[in-house]
Amino acid sequence: MTNQPAQTSETSRSTAPCTLRTLQRMVRSGEKFACLTCYDATTARWLQEAGIHMMLVGDTAGEVILGFPSTIHTPLDFLIALTAGVKRGAPTTLVMADMPFLSYQADDAQAIRNAGRFLTEGLADLVKVEVDRSFAPLVAKMCRAGIPIVAHIGSRPQHAKLHGGYYAAGKSASSAMDLLDDAQAMIAAGATMLLVEAAPAEVTEQIVRESTVPVIGCGAGNACHGQVVVLHDLLGMSAWQPAFALPTVQIGRQIIDAAHGWIERVAASNLGEHPYVMNDNERAAFQVAVDARAAGNKRPGSNRL
Ligand code: KIV
Repeated sequence: MTNQPAQTSETSRSTAPCTLRTLQRMVRSGEKFACLTCYDATTARWLQEAGIHMMLVGDTAGEVILGFPSTIHTPLDFLIALTAGVKRGAPTTLVMADMPFLSYQADDAQAIRNAGRFLTEGLADLVKVEVDRSFAPLVAKMCRAGIPIVAHIGSRPQHAKLHGGYYAAGKSASSAMDLLDDAQAMIAAGATMLLVEAAPAEVTEQIVRESTVPVIGCGAGNACHGQVVVLHDLLGMSAWQPAFALPTVQIGRQIIDAAHGWIERVAASNLGEHPYVMNDNERAAFQVAVDARAAGNKRPGSNRL
């Protein structure tokens, strides 16, 4: 198996690492940065080769990789291991890790230790938490510990059960003002970046206008400095995807075509070249041994027959 991308793509980013400073520079110069979810080293290599600026090892891994019905089932240790895999695959790309449900909400000390594990064991560059302004004290403690935090505000999928399903945020004037307050509280607490999910464009525009840190959008309109979507939506591998993350290729279709091709090749014994060969001496010795066994004799020099 080869999983090394070719080094020839015209669209490849230079080999210079993409760091937090790179993104901050891009934000200052009005250049947008692109982030995609990623859950494994091989895909990470290809995304790095494509020039993606940032990867998110999202808790959507629970849905995409493990087949759970929602993100609240995603296990902490599993996500830390995936994060390390992505960083090993894309060592010069900025990797953000998602803290899963109940890994940071119950107890501050535990939250800081868990976030630290994403940096040490998971090799992450940033850690993302789904928050509102009530989390400001925790975010401040995490920053004090040296953990770069991405504050995910707006629609928070880990809260979906409270809302009876996935929901948009900031659609009323008062909830929009709440969202602006959440953003400001997170910046004041020391968040390195904001991620706004599923909010009206005018609300996000105001957040971006007031923000002193980079703002990533996920279904939050064009005003954001960067954008993120779930990779499998973009690849045409999801059963359903949001309108802001429509597929640009149909890899699901290509998987079906490849599997059909394999079924046909297996049926036709058309496996390609066979690389494992015996030399003539070994083949002759093998035949002697097989014949001896058929005749009920022991293989010369062996106690196992
Ligand atoms: O887990 C995730 O994939 C996310 C999104 C912002 C896409 O948090």
